[in-house]
Amino acid sequence: MADCLIVFTPSGKRGRVPSGTTVLQAARRFGVDLDSVCGGRGICSKCQCSPGIGTFAKHGVTSRTDALSEPNAVEARYEAKRGLPPGRRLGCQAEIRGDVVVDVPPESQLHRQVIRKDASAATINMDPATRLHMVRVAEPDMDAPTGDLERLRTALAEQWDLHDLTVPLSVLRGLQRTLRKGGWTVTVAVNHDERCVARIWPGLRTDAPLGLAIDLGSTTIAAHLCDLGDGRVLASGGVMNPQIRFGEDLMSRVSYAMMNPGGAAEMHSVVRAAMADLLRDLAAEVELDPGDVTEAVIVCNPVMHHLLLGIDPVELGQAPFALAASDAMRLALSDVGLDGGAPGGRVYLLPCIAGHVGADAAAVALAEAPDRSEETVLIVDVGTNAELILGNRDRLLACSSPTGPAFEGAQISAGQRAAPGAIERVRIDPATGLPRFQVIGTDPWSDDPGFDATVTGICGSGIIEAVAEMRMAGILDPSGLIGSAEATGSPRCVPDGRTHSFVLWESGDRRIAVTQGDVRAIQLAKSALYAGARLLMDEAGLDRVDRVTLAGAFGAHISAHHALVLGMIPDAPVANVTSAGNAAGHGARVALCDRGARRYVEALVRRITKVETAVAPRFQEHFVAANAIPHATDPFPNLLAVTPLPAVSFGAAAQGGRRRGRRT
Ligand code: FES
Repeated sequence: MADCLIVFTPSGKRGRVPSGTTVLQAARRFGVDLDSVCGGRGICSKCQCSPGIGTFAKHGVTSRTDALSEPNAVEARYEAKRGLPPGRRLGCQAEIRGDVVVDVPPESQLHRQVIRKDASAATINMDPATRLHMVRVAEPDMDAPTGDLERLRTALAEQWDLHDLTVPLSVLRGLQRTLRKGGWTVTVAVNHDERCVARIWPGLRTDAPLGLAIDLGSTTIAAHLCDLGDGRVLASGGVMNPQIRFGEDLMSRVSYAMMNPGGAAEMHSVVRAAMADLLRDLAAEVELDPGDVTEAVIVCNPVMHHLLLGIDPVELGQAPFALAASDAMRLALSDVGLDGGAPGGRVYLLPCIAGHVGADAAAVALAEAPDRSEETVLIVDVGTNAELILGNRDRLLACSSPTGPAFEGAQISAGQRAAPGAIERVRIDPATGLPRFQVIGTDPWSDDPGFDATVTGICGSGIIEAVAEMRMAGILDPSGLIGSAEATGSPRCVPDGRTHSFVLWESGDRRIAVTQGDVRAIQLAKSALYAGARLLMDEAGLDRVDRVTLAGAFGAHISAHHALVLGMIPDAPVANVTSAGNAAGHGARVALCDRGARRYVEALVRRITKVETAVAPRFQEHFVAANAIPHATDPFPNLLAVTPLPAVSFGAAAQGGRRRGRRT
């Protein structure tokens, strides 16, 4: 029989096959990415392709109308029942009869690219661990007594060349019912990363299984429910981490575990319950079966990692901050409370970088790819425990810094979590010293005529802007002292014991003000963050960074300009200080959709140099210098080039003194 040349687009893969070979067989032979769930039976339609007709000079092929066999009865039946787009063929039915160019459309490709909707326009490669395989299983025979499981294994080996798969007991329990319900035809979800069966459905199933990407934070647990076929996010949501009642920040949870026998187990159990609720609620939101979730990926910091797995985090509370395990983990969904997912579903936990730098930082590195950047990038994941990554394609370093919960509104007199009613944006007119603000949940500013919002407090981004604006308006001096009304010219500066407060809003007997104590709390938090960044820069031998990326759900809400004024981060060109949104959550989604990304991040983490802030001798020195706003010794030239700051002083020597209007 004559050989025919087949060229696949867009891959460009080509080769010669005997006439009569199906397009699907040729695709498999040449490693072309053409999907199939039914194994070539003509019923799943995953193998659709489009033959090209004409001369393709680029490929050196002339493709004639009879290059493929005429549509056969199977295709005609499929066309009549479900319809095929014009020009489409089923690759498992169309036989190659002459030289031909065949296009594989994106929806028939197993490994497609998904373009991120956000500004960075990065792509996600689709290569999920779970694949669907339909098999026809032999019926039981009294004369050849074998188990249903063994005949399923035989079918997977014969029909898909899949050998030695693990079939968990949880899957086996439902096997007999499923086989009989499907008339001995079933679709098996196989996790190819771990070579195990995640779930079995009766008959043919062509809808892709589901995956859950989870960012397990100390304050909130956020998750995306994704279609593992095309990477689409079907539903997103979050719940508060119920462990908050055991301690606001990580170290208080470690202390709780240390001081209360059974404390770690208690925290383990509440977080598992919250994960289970999240899975059920997200699936219900889009009316899908949570049991179709065959995979989850979790990113979290080391303390959350241990508490989730039921490991006592006590070692993470003391030097040398040893992790029970730092490598990536592959576990059953039920190990982390996701029992409602597929019975044999698996969960992948990204590797931790060090005792204080977790899988969430690894996920940020995966999403932001500083290892591919020529410029030196500082990535700051702002939270109660900030995680920092510094570097470029040559070298990467990471550390964490104990900022405490002030940036999230805790330890602030009128502080609250980011929720409707919280002040989140603040501006102060330097001429009048009067503030205006915006609260979460309403658009108008407080000085707009339509403003009628209920004001309940101030959240993290609000307090950062308020303190930075106070500094810009000359209400706060570089040491962090709030001046009096006489010294600042602002009627909103009011005496408060032996210090002053700046009133943002008051109504009747209710008042929201920035107190001297609030400024001190923010100074401590920002000094810790800056000192961590400086330590990394020392280690890398750098005085400046090219760009700063603020990551984390909170980082997405911080104004980069105000963060610079405050001196939270080292000076950098203002335009190069940007927000990456929830980079850890995005990294989780990348790892969920792409097995290759898991291997990549595992190798990447091994390349990152860990810097331990708690024992670094220079941390204290950097911390003290960073107490000033923006900084005692770093002149912040990039910032001051665009935002001159008033040279005011309200210290003892200047008590009752006049405000000096000179700007540096
Ligand atoms: S492989 Fe299922 S229809 Fe072709």
